[in-house]
This record gives sequence, structure tokens and C-alpha cells, in this order.
Amino acid sequence: MKVLKSSKEYSDWLSSLDEKTTIGVAPTMGNIHDAHLSLLAQALKDNDKGVITIFVNPTQFGEDEDFESYPRTLQNDIDKIATLETMGKEIIIFAPKNNDIYPENFNQYIQANEISCDLEGALRPTHFDGVVTVVNRLFDITKPTSAYFGKKDYQQLKLIELMANQYHPKTTIVAMPILREENGLAMSSRNNYLSREQKQEALILKQTLESLKEIIQGTKSLKKVENKINQVLKEDSRFNYLSIKSLHDFKEVKDLNQPVVILGNFQMNQTRLLDNLEVNI
Ligand code: PAF
Repeated sequence: MKVLKSSKEYSDWLSSLDEKTTIGVAPTMGNIHDAHLSLLAQALKDNDKGVITIFVNPTQFGEDEDFESYPRTLQNDIDKIATLETMGKEIIIFAPKNNDIYPENFNQYIQANEISCDLEGALRPTHFDGVVTVVNRLFDITKPTSAYFGKKDYQQLKLIELMANQYHPKTTIVAMPILREENGLAMSSRNNYLSREQKQEALILKQTLESLKEIIQGTKSLKKVENKINQVLKEDSRFNYLSIKSLHDFKEVKDLNQPVVILGNFQMNQTRLLDNLEVNI
């Protein structure tokens, strides 16, 4: 396992490889947990080399958000990643500095596709432009054959797929299932901000998504699901949104004759939690 801390170190490593070597990349902002490790494990399974990037990306945080306080735990992260060395393939941890990703006069900002405008994008207006910009930059440097993203951030995943289609058509984007804590809460670095009791309370998000899924499967009536969503949003102000989108293009659905994804965002004090469920009707 190597820890490479600049794009120069990374490109030197890259140029030492045979050109047929396949590289699986798992982009993260560190504070590594099992869901991140599952991305890297899949990258290692599918490819000759596995790369995990660790970079807390300033451009995806809004002004009032937790960029400064976002946990930076590099040594701990390295120890956790080292547990995957048993898979027998070389692991690269790419942990660049800010001025390496955003050098002076950086001009490769990308605007995310229009599906960035609602849900997370409505709560965090510049967030997805920052995400696609940094992922494009990380792909330019790391040259992934395949790149691995969790479905917990479903809207992000769709936007990265669209960005990659345009700018990195040779890179395969692999969508990985949501990993959950023991009590069922979707794993997220931000879960660390919650007490045990708050984690328990936050389960209402998953339970609500499950009850919406039951309505969809039981009645196949979009009206009934929308009524239920409106009722929950009215009665519980901790929900920032609940929404149904087409699994295919992430647009609004007019009927339920297609696979959909139900998404929710739940506020626990200062912490916003995401979760979603796919429904194949
Ligand atoms: O999902 C994340 O951790 C980040 O948004 C990503 C994709 C690593 C970009 O900074």
C-alpha cells in the first residue's frame, strides 16, 4: 500500500504501470467507514489496482456548512484501508493537498446537469457543481478504468454518471448498494455527529421510505403516495424533503409503471441525513 500526496507522485506511479493495468478508483472525503471500504473492496475485486482518494473538497460546501469542522482523520483512515491488503492487490491512497486539486488559475469548473436543481441541490445550491468539478479533476489525475460510488447519495451518483458520460466516456461508473449500521441507519461520515439516541430517532427516515414503498407496491397509485408524502412533510418538519424520481433519468414521474427511487432528507439538529429506496414495480 502506498500513500501518494500529490498528483506528481500519482503520475509517477501511473507511469510505472503496464498500459493494460486496470485501475478502480473510490473517491471519498476521508473519515473512512465500512461503506467506503466496500467501494474500495469492489474496486480491488474488479481491477488490477485499487485507488482510494481522500480529499475534503471545499467547492462542494456552502458558506454555512461544515467544511472547517469536517473530520480529517488520515492516519485512522490509512489503518482502516490497510485491512483490505489481505485482498492481495496493490492499494493506493491518493490524498492530495488543496493547491494540487485547485492550482492557481484553475479554470475547469463544471456546471452539473439540470437534475441538480432540486432535492439536495435546492438545499445546497452550489453543492453539485463542486462535486462534479472535483470528481472530473480526480478522474483526470487518477485515470480510472472504473469508479465506485455509493447509492446513498443517489442524486450525486446520477450527476456523476452524466458528467462521466460527457468528459470520461471510457470510465465505467459502478453504483454500489447502501451499507447500513447495525440499527439500519444508512452509513455516512456525518453519522459521527449523532448520539446513539439520535441515531435511533433518525431511523424514522428509513421507516418512512419503507412505508412509502409499501404504498407504491400495494396500490400502484401515485396519488396515494403523493398524499402520504405531503402528510408526512406537513406533520414532521424534520423532513427536508421526500420525493419519488424515475430510476432511469431521475426526473419526476407521472405514473408508477416504471422503476422509481424514493428519496428523503431528514434533519437531526444540525445534521442532514440522506436515504433512499429503489422500487422495481
Ligand atoms: O461522496 C463524497 O464523498 C464526495 O461528494 C465525493 C464524491 C468524494 C466528491 O468530493
